[in-house]
Amino acid sequence: MAKMWQGVTDGVTSKIADDFNSSISFDSRMYREDIAGSIAHAKMLAKQGIIAEDEKNAIIAGLFGILEDLESGALKIDPSAEDIHMFVEQVLTDRIGEAGKRLHTARSRNDQVALDLRMYLRREAGEIIELLKAAAKAVCAKAEEYKTAVMPGYTHLQRAQPILLSHQLLAYCMMFLRDIDRIEDCRERMNVCPIGSCALAGTTYETDRRFEAELLDFSDICRNSIDGVSDRDFALELMSDLAILQTHLSRFCEELILWSSWEFGFVELSDNFTTGSSIMPQKKNPDMAELIRGKTGRVYGDLMSLLTALKGLPLAYNKDMQEDKEPVFDSVDTAKACLGVFIPMISEMKAKPENMLKAAQTGFINATDLADYLVRKGLPFRSAYKIAGQTVAKCREKGCILETLPLEDYKFLCELFEGDLYQEIDLKACVEKRISEGGTSLKSVEEQIEYVKKQLSEP
Ligand code: ARG
Repeated sequence: MAKMWQGVTDGVTSKIADDFNSSISFDSRMYREDIAGSIAHAKMLAKQGIIAEDEKNAIIAGLFGILEDLESGALKIDPSAEDIHMFVEQVLTDRIGEAGKRLHTARSRNDQVALDLRMYLRREAGEIIELLKAAAKAVCAKAEEYKTAVMPGYTHLQRAQPILLSHQLLAYCMMFLRDIDRIEDCRERMNVCPIGSCALAGTTYETDRRFEAELLDFSDICRNSIDGVSDRDFALELMSDLAILQTHLSRFCEELILWSSWEFGFVELSDNFTTGSSIMPQKKNPDMAELIRGKTGRVYGDLMSLLTALKGLPLAYNKDMQEDKEPVFDSVDTAKACLGVFIPMISEMKAKPENMLKAAQTGFINATDLADYLVRKGLPFRSAYKIAGQTVAKCREKGCILETLPLEDYKFLCELFEGDLYQEIDLKACVEKRISEGGTSLKSVEEQIEYVKKQLSEP
């Protein structure tokens, strides 16, 4: 079939080339944005006297008709069309005739595709922000539910110090709050209108770019037309933000996978979000958490693929840039799907505070508190640290824990030990003493819960 760009050539290309060149299989999802952009363009052209009022009206009515028919299914996307922009324009021209041919005045697909993609991604960014808010709320609610449960905190995956489970969960809330901030920030920078940049150099027509940008709810226009058609930073930025978000989800899921194992037994995931094995009847596998962890890899890959596609491109538009869509759409779809399963999985998860406490009782995680006890009795921290270490060695030798080591053994190691040491190394007391802002004491955790709630309640 001859192309709309038939001119210097006869517009006939090989079918193999057509298939290779076509982006409609993945850019048709931007049909709403493409139509909205074209309606605004027609309004601007008419206001500037570049097309007539009746032509504008015919174009707008035609575009609304196309939108309606696409939504109802009466009009099917033609898979052999080159891209969504060509498809809409072709159908419009078929339906309304001459006026349709005037729509592309003072416009190029180069600025059109940049416009559509910005509009599409700003909407998706908004949806992801809402999902992230729900995720942070679900985690915060879990923290409240298990506010006082004590567990071992880890470094190097070795039991380190006693903490509250709520404290650890709130760490993820803080990450999600930053993710929200980052995506909001990205959305703001993205919300700058490229239309009117045309092919690259601007146009000879007296257009009104700001009017068109306002109609489409942009807060500004791209100030340089070459940049307007060449820039894909907004996609890279969103993908970077999503890669970071996935890192957070993946770390959380990794903990859920560990914690739901028999070895830990800290949590139980709901049956709704685990699967059985086809051979081992006892199995309850955390597939959803594993898939979120696994899908994180593809979001990183998406980002890397677009960075690489762009790095060697001379200005302005190059067809390589058509390769922006699949990775950015995949990142968006993947992040939304991951959040969509993560939120109810967290809400339905049950913790097992008894097991967490049991784990906290072994591993000498109150040894720092023992050292701090001696510091309060006047020893320098380094000396206290050494004695606490020797005390742990003594316990190991005797097969007991700090709480059950007799006072005479303590006394033998250091004169300063008195009977009051036992209340100092009690796990609940160890947690309660961590009163520094942001620490693990209940009061501090309650402040963190309030903080998260306040951040999430702002408009
Ligand atoms: N389908 C193209 C893309 O996604 C649209 C822009 C084509 N522009 C061009 N001059 N060939 O990038």
